Amino acid sequence: MALLFLDTANIEEVRQAVAWGVLDGVTTNPTLMMRAGTADLKATTLEIAEIVRGPVSAEVISADAEGMIAEAREILAWSEFVNVKIPCTVEGLKAMREISRWPNGRINATLIFSPTQAYLVAKAGATYASLFVGRMDDAGLDGMEVVRQTREIFDQYGFPCKVLAASIRHTAHVVESLRAGADIITVPFAVLQQMVRSPFTDAGLERFLADWRKVAGS
Ligand code: G3P
Repeated sequence: MALLFLDTANIEEVRQAVAWGVLDGVTTNPTLMMRAGTADLKATTLEIAEIVRGPVSAEVISADAEGMIAEAREILAWSEFVNVKIPCTVEGLKAMREISRWPNGRINATLIFSPTQAYLVAKAGATYASLFVGRMDDAGLDGMEVVRQTREIFDQYGFPCKVLAASIRHTAHVVESLRAGADIITVPFAVLQQMVRSPFTDAGLERFLADWRKVAGS
């Protein structure tokens, strides 16, 4: 089954999405923390984890492997639900290789824009490979094709690394990610709302209720 994550650091959005009963996890990043107006990475991540009780990504801010490893050690100790987001750079790969050897070494490899990057993070032991579909499209690349190619490569060689479709901008990205076989799709709250709404559903419901009122005489 494809899992559905929310791409946010906003506690209220997490609360609402969890109440809908369809949410499996949450991804955050420093920009999302900034938008949520929080500088307390630990408190925010733990609050989210307590609400969703599923995987929650918290990103490192170091650029060197040593710093990333030190941050990951701390982040991963916060909760069994938390995984550490590491960027796909040379330093990031070195850090992933080391962290993946730990018993709690849950890694979300982030900022992936090509199948070769996905292949490398899978080799380095990442749990999830976050493919930035929307940002690829913005750059004139075909983001969904990268999801399809990564799926094919991971399947062909049996890599356990999960394909995570990120940087989702609209519902067509969700549909295409599902069709391409993404294991996980992380969506902003606005896209989650678009996924459930249809004016035809609203109009249809209104008509059903109006007709019922006619026969029931209320
Ligand atoms: O979580 C990372 C990713 O989803 C970022 O998306 O919209 O900033 O490109 P965006």
